[in-house]
Amino acid sequence: MDNFLLRVPPIVHFGQNAALKVGDEATRLGAKKIIIVTDDFLAKSGALDPIKKALDVKGLSYGVFSSVNTEPTIEHVDAALALLKAEKADLLVAVGGGSPIDVAKAVSFMATNPGRIQDYMGIDKIKVNALPLIAVPTTAGTGSEATATTIIADTVNNVKMLIISARIMPQTALVDPLLTLGMPKGLTAATGLDALTHAIEAYVSRKAQPITDLLALSAIKLLVKNLPVAYADPANVTARSETLLGALEAGMAFSNSSVALVHGMSRPVGAIFHVAHGVSNAALLAKVMEFSLSGNYSRYAEVAKAMGLPDLGNDQKTAESGAVLVARIVKDLEVPGLAALGVIKDKLDPVVSKMADDAIASGSPGNNPKIATKEEIIELYYACL
Ligand SMILES: [Fe+2]
Repeated sequence: MDNFLLRVPPIVHFGQNAALKVGDEATRLGAKKIIIVTDDFLAKSGALDPIKKALDVKGLSYGVFSSVNTEPTIEHVDAALALLKAEKADLLVAVGGGSPIDVAKAVSFMATNPGRIQDYMGIDKIKVNALPLIAVPTTAGTGSEATATTIIADTVNNVKMLIISARIMPQTALVDPLLTLGMPKGLTAATGLDALTHAIEAYVSRKAQPITDLLALSAIKLLVKNLPVAYADPANVTARSETLLGALEAGMAFSNSSVALVHGMSRPVGAIFHVAHGVSNAALLAKVMEFSLSGNYSRYAEVAKAMGLPDLGNDQKTAESGAVLVARIVKDLEVPGLAALGVIKDKLDPVVSKMADDAIASGSPGNNPKIATKEEIIELYYACL
């Protein structure tokens, strides 16, 4: 068997009211002053109140940075870092979807490392341990609570910077399905399809390994069964819980075996057209999967079977049935297509070459079962409109 590396958070509390462990965990991690990183909606909705109360009970003081209202940018990181330094905080609690968690990860290492965040783009560039981070997801999608990855947009150069380091793995993930009950349907669909993309890409990735395989197949099974239920019946705690577990498993899987062509192509769509990450993945997933099948029919056949489809006695046919089901799930969840979000041919024409270059440069397409040429990536972008 080949050697492999597995990076997961040291502590994961999963289940109803897991978020209330935040006071215990911050105390265990030695916090004296905390910065909570979140978004305006959560800060104003009262969703943070139980978390603040759990910190109050332990006598912990905190400041709140609640400006992460778009996909994470360098500006968010700079502003949150300035607050952290002004408050002399020594621990971060991120509450929200992937964006606040990604910002908090970036702040956690920029607080202890010199230079500009751009210097750390890539793998294992962070030399000094980051401040501890407790991640509390409120969406079931990015899996960011369990990944050693952050993605921060450089809005000047229209690039999404991918930063990977074990030093930004959250020290604790508090994964509480009750926090996901309030997600609107569109967000449930987009984030859930991001998670499904993580699970599929982690399993078919050229860097897949035995433990990520287990996590990815389990995640596919949980997500295909429960995401449509959570979408149709948002208050269904069981479906929310199983979807969140699927997203967590998918996060652990892709953080170790990597994502592939869908994510590689999705980041430039987000960087240039400001389309939310889950939405751009959903728009690309079915077509890119169809393109990729011939790279590894047997792995895609296992994906189909994990989705609950029958073994058709032929890997190619079974794999193809999986791609058809994925296309149907994306359609059923009513995620808007790229054209509806303003990504139309006229706007794509002048930037598509750069998008294909950026996709390839991110490295993710290199993990795809079928390696796409630049021309094929451009064709796929148009096919996904
Ligand atoms: Fe993703």
